[in-house]
Amino acid sequence: MKALVLSGGSGTRLRPFSYSMPKQLIPIANKPVLEHVLENIRALGVTEIGIIVGGWATEIADVLGDGSRLGVRITYIPQEKPLGLAHCVTLARPFLGDDDFVMYLGDNMLPDGIESIAADFRAARPAAQVVVHKVLDPRAFGVAELDVDGNVERLVEKPEQPLSDLALIGVYFFTPAIHRAVGAISPSARGELEITDAIQWLLTAGSEVKASEYSGYWKDTGRAEDVLDCNRQLLADLRPGVFGETDAASELDEGVRIEPGARVLRSRIEGPVVVGSGTVIEDSHIGPNTSIGRDCTLRGTQVSESIVMDGATISQVPGLQGSLIGRNATVGTTPEQDPHHRLVVGDHTRIEVAA
Ligand code: TTP
Repeated sequence: MKALVLSGGSGTRLRPFSYSMPKQLIPIANKPVLEHVLENIRALGVTEIGIIVGGWATEIADVLGDGSRLGVRITYIPQEKPLGLAHCVTLARPFLGDDDFVMYLGDNMLPDGIESIAADFRAARPAAQVVVHKVLDPRAFGVAELDVDGNVERLVEKPEQPLSDLALIGVYFFTPAIHRAVGAISPSARGELEITDAIQWLLTAGSEVKASEYSGYWKDTGRAEDVLDCNRQLLADLRPGVFGETDAASELDEGVRIEPGARVLRSRIEGPVVVGSGTVIEDSHIGPNTSIGRDCTLRGTQVSESIVMDGATISQVPGLQGSLIGRNATVGTTPEQDPHHRLVVGDHTRIEVAA
């Protein structure tokens, strides 16, 4: 079995971050989403991985290289424009050949793993095996209607009156039967070749399509809120350890990981928290549920429920919560006696200031 990871797309919902980096490289618990994805695929014993890349191909290749660091072999497959998930399958045909494959959206997080779902697929080898997850409001999703044996009877895209609460999430297993289906469908109203149309084509042609339910934690990390929620979830399973430098005046909880080369002085670190190498934290209160990247500087600051990316500086800001601070960003206070907020804010940035 091979894997096809989709890491193109435009990432409009994750602006402004997606102006300077692909959303699939956003760090969750200080590790890019794509690395979490590749680890899940590696856990299936699948090592031949094709990655669809758009405009951020160089940045993605700089981080993942040929995959050997993660124990996999990566083939990069360029996609000029995000023309749909089924379009990605068409582009990957030379890489996939006639092998079965797992298709995995490069912004989806399934930290509880997909081994048992892969086992279902390998045992029965239906033409397609979709992964479904119970959601409260299925109207924003592709929804699967199943019979009692878990066979998919119908897929409905964003139904107004859903007949099931099982949303399709970003992992699919296919036999080579999918290639005829993607070749047979036409672009949808939004101009994309939809994978749900290809799977529906298989159903109409009488092929077997099965569904497996993933009941663990799942997140599509397409929006800032989702990234923060996912960070909180992953930090709960953080492997703690203090490998950097701390002083006697600092107080660190058990669920804290301080990477080598980081320094914590006169500060309280309330876990779970991870602090990347080269970062300096002084006179601050960090956490809970916070990831601080590499080479950051935090002074006189309190930050919780947040992600601070590499190279950021935060000085004398006492009440940061639920924040996503980008690489090399600077957050600070105005000089004394200046009562104003002074902002240099990029396009599509969101700022919320306490009144
Ligand atoms: P989406 O999140 O649906 O699309 P997007 O990346 O354009 O994001 P937004 O809606 O915020 O603009 O895509 C799901 C995943 O599939 C994501 O990792 C990007 C990838 N993808 C491709 O690689 N090629 C494509 O043609 C499309 C549509 C998505």
